[in-house]
Amino acid sequence: MCGIVGYVGTKKAYPILINGLTALEYRGYDSAGIASMENGKICVMKDKGRVSNLNNIPGLNDLTGTIGIAHTRWATHGMPSKENSHPHMDNSETFAVVHNGIIENYNELKAFLSDNGYHFLSQTDTEVIPNLIHYYFSKETSDNKFLAAVQKATADLKGSFAIEVLSNLYPDKMIVVRKDSPLVIGKGSEGFHIASDIPALLEYTRDFYLLNDYEYTVIENSSIKFYDKNLVEHEKEIKNIEWAASAAEKNGFDDYMLKEIHEQPTAIRETIGSRLKLGEACNFSDINISKEYLSTINKIFIVACGTAMHAGLTGKKFIENLCNIPVEVDVASEFRYRNPIVNEKSLCIFISQSGETADTIAALKLCREKGAKTLAVSNVIGSSITREADYTIYTHAGPEIAVASTKAYTSQVVLLGILAVYFAEILESVDTETINNIKKDILELPSKIETSLKTADQMKELAKKIYTEKDMFFIGRGVDYNVALEGSLKLKEISYIHSEAYASGELKHGPIALIEKGITVISILTDEALVEKSISNIQEVITRGAKTIIITNLDLSNAGFENVVKVEETNPLLSPILSVIPLQLLSYYISKEKGLDVDKPRNLAKSVTVE
Ligand code: M6R
Repeated sequence: MCGIVGYVGTKKAYPILINGLTALEYRGYDSAGIASMENGKICVMKDKGRVSNLNNIPGLNDLTGTIGIAHTRWATHGMPSKENSHPHMDNSETFAVVHNGIIENYNELKAFLSDNGYHFLSQTDTEVIPNLIHYYFSKETSDNKFLAAVQKATADLKGSFAIEVLSNLYPDKMIVVRKDSPLVIGKGSEGFHIASDIPALLEYTRDFYLLNDYEYTVIENSSIKFYDKNLVEHEKEIKNIEWAASAAEKNGFDDYMLKEIHEQPTAIRETIGSRLKLGEACNFSDINISKEYLSTINKIFIVACGTAMHAGLTGKKFIENLCNIPVEVDVASEFRYRNPIVNEKSLCIFISQSGETADTIAALKLCREKGAKTLAVSNVIGSSITREADYTIYTHAGPEIAVASTKAYTSQVVLLGILAVYFAEILESVDTETINNIKKDILELPSKIETSLKTADQMKELAKKIYTEKDMFFIGRGVDYNVALEGSLKLKEISYIHSEAYASGELKHGPIALIEKGITVISILTDEALVEKSISNIQEVITRGAKTIIITNLDLSNAGFENVVKVEETNPLLSPILSVIPLQLLSYYISKEKGLDVDKPRNLAKSVTVE
């Protein structure tokens, strides 16, 4: 969950590197560092703290090198400190490395290197890499010594890595390689830019090389060469990515999260794209699932983490309701270790905004081994998960920078909804009228989201009243329970307020013991079929002294509740897309009232590439 940046070109490297690190800070922000090639010698500057601290390091502005590597860290092995910051060098200070990922066998490698006379200055797993490169380099006799040494060193690594390597002995060269951690190379007008993700480079280029695992890349001046695992050179296609550079900027909003909340109408419109039109069958020509295949499926698994898993819970309702196929939803970190009963009659769907979440990718690989077909839902073109899956469908939410996911979640729910309609059309599992009605409702979502966004002032006022609280509850039934889970996660992650989400009907089975005078209970109430039961649950907590906030699309004017927040009516299956928005806003404003860093909450990173 660290961010890495690199540059090989004709401009001064260090401002480009710092700019890239700033864009990647959402991936980790406890330490930062750069290495620039200065007159044939690697110069490393690093420290704990945010990227902006690098500007305080004496001599930074004197760097003139045009080739460099950089890193922003999310600590895994060793506390944030200068010694543990990247870049790391080997003992002879010949090789410098930045690394994102985890080297699982680093203790073993450390012991091996120690036996061979190497010593270590940090507690990191990364420091074994430059030393291993040095070890193999000193034994290498081939012409292509640098590349061969990097290849041998990385062949010894277990776990995940995206690395950039510089060497004093090859001052014009950089070698990069990845395995299970993201890395892209952009071709700009003034050089090659390397980064952990595409948005960090959009201001320089839209042309990208998306590296495969163990694809060794050597960049030297204006040349770039790609080699496979056995160092056989090959050509590589460059991909043009359509995202606008402004999509990765704040565009006048105080924070990325607020901007991304407000981008939801556009994100949904783009995700619907040409997939769904009234009077036409859904268009999934990119995956083209046949009736023969779909008819053999007796179970669908949806696997994901965090917010993406919450989107999956609503996906389950869509598929079960429209396609009549049972669906199991699981968090990836549990699923992969529970020996799930998956076989060739299972279709396994994996949802990941980043497409880089380690547990989700591992779960996908497991299902593939068990003979199931796999389908990835991702927001990042060419991300790791999309390269592993049999089928991929993309949300088109644009880059999501804030750690707290908002527009990706609603886009995932919409795309799963359209996928369920597509399956239902293939299987002819529901009548045409039902299909047409839901299509109409999906197409109306972008304008209905605008109404949900208008609750911003109300949510800001509510935030002022409750931001000092220590505990809160979220309750709901059916899809409203899914929204309760998501609202509670959003609150925890950016406001650091403890909260629990419960299915309303479960309250009486224990949690109601925690309800006491003055506690806030946030209730989501959108399904008319469940309204009476849900209202009873709200009354039960009010009777015990709770204050309530109710997110609803129903007319509750005669019920006498305080703090009713209205969203628009829609098909009950789609209501999470409208009712989650006031909760996203509430968390945002609570975090602001508390003076917290909304976009970079403590201990978290956007892309969880460690297990
Ligand atoms: O990139 P992914 O969708 O795979 O990420 C999954 C979770 O880590 C992510 O949704 C996380 O829960 C968010 N920070 C929630 O806002």
